[in-house]
Amino acid sequence: MTEKHMKLLVFGANGPTGRLVTQQALAEGHRVTAVTRRPDAFPVDHARLRVAGADALDPAAVDEVMAGHDRVISTLGVPYTREPVTLYSQSARHIAAAMGRHGLRRLVCVTSIGVHPELPPEEKFFFRKVVGPILMAMGRPLYEDARRMEEVVRATDLDWTIVRPSGLFDAAALSDYRVAVAPRRLPGMFTSRTDLADALLREAVDDRHPRACIEVITTQGTPSYTSVFLKEALHIGK
Ligand SMILES: NC(=O)c1ccc[n+]([C@@H]2O[C@H](COP(=O)([O-])OP(=O)(O)OC[C@H]3O[C@@H](n4cnc5c(N)ncnc54)[C@H](OP(=O)(O)O)[C@@H]3O)[C@@H](O)[C@H]2O)c1
Repeated sequence: MTEKHMKLLVFGANGPTGRLVTQQALAEGHRVTAVTRRPDAFPVDHARLRVAGADALDPAAVDEVMAGHDRVISTLGVPYTREPVTLYSQSARHIAAAMGRHGLRRLVCVTSIGVHPELPPEEKFFFRKVVGPILMAMGRPLYEDARRMEEVVRATDLDWTIVRPSGLFDAAALSDYRVAVAPRRLPGMFTSRTDLADALLREAVDDRHPRACIEVITTQGTPSYTSVFLKEALHIGK
């Protein structure tokens, strides 16, 4: 357990990764404000947890929850869609502006390895030629806005870290996950949400890679492409 106990503000806290970030942060002794549009549906209860209702697309609501925190983490996300996506870039603008007004410096946010136009190295023929291109095409509106989010965040003078996971899956335990600082790429197509939550916390609390983009890749216990495709991309079994 870390010795530094902080006040963390988590956007997207009610998503599967956000819940893990919240639970892992509380287990490490931090105070957490979990931001969600549906505070009544937030499933975690803890003496050091505050649940705040705010829409990340509403700049006044974002400003209202900002005061009194040390670090900000964003795991905000939308499912695959054909419609234009603005959540990533808009929320980044509102969060960065509110952080500036409240004197906060450290922002850790999630985008995706899909921001790269190329697939990861070392993947097999079937992935390179079939699965990868389908996923990239399905995720295009989302990845385009994640790229815009990265531009917004990079243009700030905050101590930001952008964390790019690969295909997310749920795992019971933390693994010995790999981290690479961009532009270095890692082979591998999966990131467990438990590993991603830990990587986000290590960045927020331990300041590992300020003003850098990092990839987080899980190599142990990874699922099959088919199961991830069905669950995450088509929302079957969620
Ligand atoms: N799925 C994948 O394979 C994959 C791959 C790479 C990267 N990622 C990224 O990884 C991150 C975490 O993904 P995840 O699957 O754990 O979470 P997620 O399902 O994308 O959900 C994140 C949360 O964002 C919140 N949210 C959405 N719009 C909001 C708004 N306008 N205001 C406030 N909150 C809003 C929602 O919570 P409420 O409805 O409670 O507000 C939602 O639960 C996301 O950024 C995702 O894009 C995912």
